[in-house]
Amino acid sequence: MISKDLIPNIAHTQFITYVAAMVPPLAEALVTLYVPRDEVVLDPFCGGGAVLVECSRHHRKAFGSDINPLAALISKVKSTYIDVDELLEATRVVTATSIRNLNGSISFPEEYNMEYWFLPETIAELSSIIRVIKKCEVENTFSSDVLDALKVAFSSTVRDVMLTYRNEVRLRRLEPKDLEKFHPNAIERFKHRSKLIVERISSLPKGAHSRVEIAPVQHLPYEAKKFHSIIMFTAIRR
Ligand SMILES: C[S@@+](CC[C@H](N)C(=O)[O-])C[C@H]1O[C@@H](n2cnc3c(N)ncnc32)[C@H](O)[C@@H]1O
Repeated sequence: MISKDLIPNIAHTQFITYVAAMVPPLAEALVTLYVPRDEVVLDPFCGGGAVLVECSRHHRKAFGSDINPLAALISKVKSTYIDVDELLEATRVVTATSIRNLNGSISFPEEYNMEYWFLPETIAELSSIIRVIKKCEVENTFSSDVLDALKVAFSSTVRDVMLTYRNEVRLRRLEPKDLEKFHPNAIERFKHRSKLIVERISSLPKGAHSRVEIAPVQHLPYEAKKFHSIIMFTAIRR
């Protein structure tokens, strides 16, 4: 039975949308009802990180894995507390530098077919943002946790500024009548997405963290580890 006090709080702000995610109140109920505090939980299909976030919020030790590298990154960022001041500063640096260095040059391989999915000015803005993030990574300007958060903000920005319909799983290019009304600004969206991440991460208990690996369930990277519970939700194809 899910009680009223299990309604989602700020920790569930959608700073990135993951398809087929477990609903947060269910993840919260499973974690809090079945797993004692400080016990260890594994979600081997961690996807958008619903289970891992609840573990972090409720002082359970969160381990996850997923075959999809983006899922592993999102889950880790959502369930790991980071220094919010450092993330705010990183966001300020990335946005300001991206605006300053906006020069129209493109940083994506030709085979990505970017022109089909993005406006030319959007491609230039995204290129500028990713160049700054990569430079910060090479120069160790920020901690790896902060860099991971910036990458997640970038990933959700890409989805925001694509010439596709929102809330559809399959990518479908905007029809001409919708296309002419769509004027995205990737750097503004990046700023907004980073702000959502800051809000969300600051609601986690200080020190909350998870361990997330990129791995298929057939080869779990935690052989020697004992788990109190395995909580997972996935679709099985026959
Ligand atoms: C339905 S989603 C899981 C959603 C997740 N429980 C959540 O709340 O967001 C299924 C996940 O399983 C992952 N997956 C599919 N096959 C896998 C495999 N063989 N090994 C590990 N992960 C796999 C997918 O990448 C996807 O993230």
